[in-house]
Amino acid sequence: MCGIVGILGAKPVAGDLVDALRRLEYRGYDSAGIATVENGHLDRRRAEGKLKNLELRLSNHPLQGRAGIGHTRWATHGRPVERNAHPHMNGRVAVVHNGIIENFQELKGELAAKGHEFQTETDTETVLHLVTDYLDQGLPPVEAARMALERLSGAFALGLIFAGHDNLMIGARQGPPLAVGHGEGEMYLGSDAIALAPFTDMVTYLEDGDWVVLTREGAEIHDMTGRRVERPMVKSIASALLVDKGNYRHFMAKEIHEQPEVIGHTLANYLDMAAGKVVFPELGADLAKISRVTISACGTAHYAGLVGKYWLERYARIPVEIDIASEFRYRESPLPEDGLAIFVSQSGETADTLASLRYCKAGGQRIASVVNVRSSTIARESHVILPTLAGPEIGVASTKAFTCQLSVLACLAIAIGRARGAVGADQEKELVRALTEVPRHLTTILRSESLYESLAVSLHKAKDVLYLGRGPSYPIALEGALKLKEISYIHAEGYAAGELKHGPIALIDENVPVVVVAPENDLFEKTVSNMQEVAARGGQIILISDATPDKAGCKLQTHLQMPHAHPFISPLLYAVPVQLIAYHTAVVMGTDVDQPRNLAKSVTVE
Ligand code: F6R
Repeated sequence: MCGIVGILGAKPVAGDLVDALRRLEYRGYDSAGIATVENGHLDRRRAEGKLKNLELRLSNHPLQGRAGIGHTRWATHGRPVERNAHPHMNGRVAVVHNGIIENFQELKGELAAKGHEFQTETDTETVLHLVTDYLDQGLPPVEAARMALERLSGAFALGLIFAGHDNLMIGARQGPPLAVGHGEGEMYLGSDAIALAPFTDMVTYLEDGDWVVLTREGAEIHDMTGRRVERPMVKSIASALLVDKGNYRHFMAKEIHEQPEVIGHTLANYLDMAAGKVVFPELGADLAKISRVTISACGTAHYAGLVGKYWLERYARIPVEIDIASEFRYRESPLPEDGLAIFVSQSGETADTLASLRYCKAGGQRIASVVNVRSSTIARESHVILPTLAGPEIGVASTKAFTCQLSVLACLAIAIGRARGAVGADQEKELVRALTEVPRHLTTILRSESLYESLAVSLHKAKDVLYLGRGPSYPIALEGALKLKEISYIHAEGYAAGELKHGPIALIDENVPVVVVAPENDLFEKTVSNMQEVAARGGQIILISDATPDKAGCKLQTHLQMPHAHPFISPLLYAVPVQLIAYHTAVVMGTDVDQPRNLAKSVTVE
């Protein structure tokens, strides 16, 4: 999604703005721009495509202002061309915006009738004209911005600077996150603390409805009623985290390889490994009395939730309702008494997941969120946070956050199972021991990466790829297909293996690779039968299994040998081969692995 930065600096800020934008690159974008106040005048540079285009423009035509705003845009209204890139500006005000102004048509009509001429197809431009309209009425900048904010509806984060005001910036948050950074005689605004990490580690997160007046001397925050409020200043850990690729070619590769370590950290947070017990934070509800678990999330996080459903039902013997958040939020699903609702989100800012959370909260559910960003909105609105300790995930395609989400959900299933008497002390020990082996097994799997490189050479020629799995391997098949399509742009679908003959088998011929996720468990024989149906129709089978190839009973194009492990942890282990398949295929295809086209890291609009 769009990223915002703002700096009131002691020296020219263009270079630092670009540096901050680079740290927001991971969110996904299609154009970028910055504007500064220089000798009282506003000036801007914008460019379509990557940040290097903006940098080139700046090196040919530098900006010298000490007050500036910057933006990376992920198009919602209007094509990703320079004309629609932010900052939007006229002679009096410049604005950057993340989110959607829902009433922009109405405002645009009103402002156009007053003679305002619109230059772009964006919803953001209405903010520019609205503020200008109030300035034209003689209001000072802060007042004009306040009046304009009152008229806006939708989800947005905004940054504004004004001609003739070299020591003033306004930020506003209604929905998407916005942080204020505090420096020595300098102040900052940013979509997240990572953007501000090189400049300051002291940040204040604005709350929903807040707006802030920044000067180099400090920040005055107001809530949605206009009241002055104090929000805590916290030390951000973002600057302590190394946000670079190390020796890896892509962030995604680095993040795939970090999994043994970050899963280890995450598990250590929920397990007493020596005692063989789960040590779970108080959920504030009697786990034995929970009547139903409702899970809601989007994309990869939803697939983590789907694995969670298999675990919770099988091990904790509790019914689970799960849906993608964009559907759940409008389904008006009846909620049970004593229900626990779980929201899974790497960013903690996904608009649909947040809306589902609010629906469940209003419906009296106990709210727990499995999030990677602890300062996020979803985290803050939950009764309990179940953090994943994946560290910043920069690659747009989620990898380590997914397996850390699985780790937390596995521990939760054991905790609820124990409370309900479905998991006894011995079984708890056995499951905990199995979990502690995950990092070791993953290290083994990651050692055979060269196999995936060779597989990718043939796979990249495919037009369609199918992924099959049963039981908890079904969500892994879905995740494998999602990963492949989002970074290699090859069409891929995941199916429950048993569903194959109800339709998708019509697609099989010798040109269709079929990736079969099949740990040797109680469902293995069933999956093998489905695999043979594929083989009989000429499909090219890539089997991911701990079973030996002879057990497949049919010709395999590739066999990816997995280590033998407890069936409980299979989803955690089999997630990694499907990531490696997608990653290496994308590398062979030469796509932009870390920032695939059209995708954004943190989806703050619905
Ligand atoms: C896919 C991917 C997305 C996210 C989804 C939810 O690789 O990353 O499908 O999982 O957009 O995002 P979060 O987890 O931030 O709520």
